[in-house]
Amino acid sequence: MSKQTFYLTTPIYYVNARPHIGHAYSTIAADVIARRHRLLGDDTFFLTGTDEHGQKVERSAAAAGVAPQQFADEVSASFRTLWDRMGITYNDYIRTTDERHKQGVQRLWKHLEERGAIYLSTYTGQYSIGEEMFVEGPPGTIGPDGKPTETVTEENYFFKLSEYQLPLIDRIESGELTIQPESSRNEVLSFLRGDLNAVIVRVYDESLFADAHLPSGTVVPAKLPVNPLDIAYDRGWVLKSASGKYYIPGALKDLSISRSSFKWGIPVPGDEKHVIYVWLDALANYMTAIGYGSDDPAMQERFARYWPADLHLVGKEITRFHCVYWPAFLLAAGIATPKSVVANGWLLFDDSKMSKSKGNVVRTETILDAFGTEVYKKQFPDSTKREQDLFGADVLRYFLLREIPFGQDGSFSFDAMITRYNADLANGYGNLVSRVLTMISSNFSGCMPVYPYEAPSEPKSLPLSILFEDKASSNNFFAFLRQAMEVIGVVDGKITSDAPWKLAKSDSPDDRVKLAASLYSACEAIRVITAYLYPIIPHATAKVWAQLGLGDIEAAAKNGELKNLEWGGLKPGTKLGELAPIFPRADKGLAQIMIDMENPTISTPSTTSTPSTTSPASVTPPAPSKLVDEKTTHTSAVPTDPTHPGAAPRTSALPEANPGATVGGSYAISTERPGTPSHTEAPASGPFAASAAGSSTPDTPQIAIDDFVKIDLRVAQIVVAERIPKADKLLRLEVDLGYEKRQILSGIAEWYTPEELIGRKIVVIANLAPRKMRGLESHGMLLAASHGENGKPVLATFGEEIALGSRLR
Ligand code: ME8
Ligand code: MG
Repeated sequence: MSKQTFYLTTPIYYVNARPHIGHAYSTIAADVIARRHRLLGDDTFFLTGTDEHGQKVERSAAAAGVAPQQFADEVSASFRTLWDRMGITYNDYIRTTDERHKQGVQRLWKHLEERGAIYLSTYTGQYSIGEEMFVEGPPGTIGPDGKPTETVTEENYFFKLSEYQLPLIDRIESGELTIQPESSRNEVLSFLRGDLNAVIVRVYDESLFADAHLPSGTVVPAKLPVNPLDIAYDRGWVLKSASGKYYIPGALKDLSISRSSFKWGIPVPGDEKHVIYVWLDALANYMTAIGYGSDDPAMQERFARYWPADLHLVGKEITRFHCVYWPAFLLAAGIATPKSVVANGWLLFDDSKMSKSKGNVVRTETILDAFGTEVYKKQFPDSTKREQDLFGADVLRYFLLREIPFGQDGSFSFDAMITRYNADLANGYGNLVSRVLTMISSNFSGCMPVYPYEAPSEPKSLPLSILFEDKASSNNFFAFLRQAMEVIGVVDGKITSDAPWKLAKSDSPDDRVKLAASLYSACEAIRVITAYLYPIIPHATAKVWAQLGLGDIEAAAKNGELKNLEWGGLKPGTKLGELAPIFPRADKGLAQIMIDMENPTISTPSTTSTPSTTSPASVTPPAPSKLVDEKTTHTSAVPTDPTHPGAAPRTSALPEANPGATVGGSYAISTERPGTPSHTEAPASGPFAASAAGSSTPDTPQIAIDDFVKIDLRVAQIVVAERIPKADKLLRLEVDLGYEKRQILSGIAEWYTPEELIGRKIVVIANLAPRKMRGLESHGMLLAASHGENGKPVLATFGEEIALGSRLR
């Protein structure tokens, strides 16, 4: 009989910027799951790769001044190099610019077309470049990435997504497609079912309640005697799925699956002026990588063997793509759908999602380098770079999975990482191992003692059985690791109460027996714990395994020695391996070292670039903290709060570009860090000019002062502010520039009331070409910082008196 197969994937990451620990988080979780399945004996295939097409990547490449392919090559390589440094055990690395992928995607397209799932139509809508998706709303709508959308009118190919509403609902409700966590499942289901609340409101509005079930004049009680949706069902407004749950027919709309306004993508077969929608292109990677669309029989065999995927591991923001679009494409093509989608939560910095476009990222390389050199190399000066890297990788793996309940969001901080490392790994697990093995070494000549009693199935005092519970095999890494550490604490406590160091000094044979029993039991516990920890910290556990005299843990994983862990696996007389510390303690000062590594350009105070001498009439920009809201930004040149390492501007994007750049001018910006060159992404119509004044970091091309002075920034006062009928997001403002008054439309209505704006002194970009929105002309734009996950705008303002019309330089 052939082995059970297990096929799992990570998202394929966009190559618009280099990886950060958010990407590492998903990849680590997938690697842990892959290792666990391998040790259980499953024929496991683990795929990762990069997503290289689409407008976002095209624009990032243009901003970096290189061709998209070259840009993609560089960034894709930086992801792959990182995974290799970390010892990630991926089986294949797919790039959407691979020939094999393009061919597979075009074949999938043709297949969908043949089956009547695709048609051509014209469409006008709001497109979010950052998230590569159409969104509902008026022009200037703030997209899911916190940036204004762009109006796109195109002749597009459409996919008949609407036909799959009920099949998808049924699949998810029946568990044929499982989605974790529950919150993601609910989110997907409510998207598929449509806005049932609106239906309930309609039932109320039309007083159907009173008519149908309550005597007229009754006040509707808080607890309803009847489900309003039952009434809606009677009227045919909602239907029932196979499991009897309501949904609104028609709530799922067809999906545009081609673009013709840019080129960087896979051409639509037979109509080459269109490129295939980047998400259809990207999702197909899961099949093309294992042989879909290939002419090679070996690859076709591989596809037959591994498809459908057992698990797509994704970040929670892309569950819709994986749980709605992807299975719908597959259903339409008559291909089996994946079995499960598991979403990880977000790593946050300053309460906001760590992301390339915000730039508030921590690079994994920083952690590998810092722990590798400052902790590991200090202890082992002769260690190789490879050993140092793998040590750092284990620390990160452990921290992320132990600290954050998987599926939930969690804040990252260097301090927490060091504290956790020292407490759990250095003082906990590592200390236990070294304590026990050192005593065996000195009392039993480095050989495993004989357990002197009848072998217990498990010593009562060691609650090892909890490690055998489901937690080790589910994705509840957090609960599992917490329990593993509890067990370590118990074993440690047992050692303390046995006091083997006292027994060792005793001459009584009885004490010698107790000593052997105590140390053997502790070693057995360590062996079991180590086997369980192996998928999480494979490189550290490999050392423990070797020290226990058990040899190569990878080999043990392969031949099934890491499962079925029965008591007594350690053979008495086995010679221990060479003993050495596994987890040298990390100094508290390491946090600052990592912060400095993240901010190599910060040494020059940011204010130095103010060229006030060149323009005597200019307004000297106030101190950084005055220009934007104190609470929402961190502009100090040297970060002072090590618990918020994301606080300062950092560099992240392109390899080695411009490493010596300073962050001059960054006081004019905000929490929106100079990550990707967001000025190329933020259209001129948006309310956020913040990143347009972005600093010169490796990924934001430097500009000369001549370029900067082209932007006419002026102090203005808001004199009129009012809502625009039927435009939820837009405000109409009249601003006084001292020398003239003008009208500006701004998409800040969700965050500012007209009342609170009137009288405020703000900064406007005065020489922006006029633009029409909602039939009104906008002459300029406001300078605001973009804060938090939804990109809440915070208007730039002044802390001192300033004349209207003054120019900012
Ligand atoms: O969305 N916290 O690519 P992407 C946790 N190309 N996980 C994070 C994270 C964070 N702060 N930031 C990123 C795309 N991730 C598409 C996917 S799949 C067919 C196409 C992880 O570069 C998380 O897994 O934006 C998230 O879904 C993924 O990186 C997004 O990477
Ligand atoms: Mg993303």
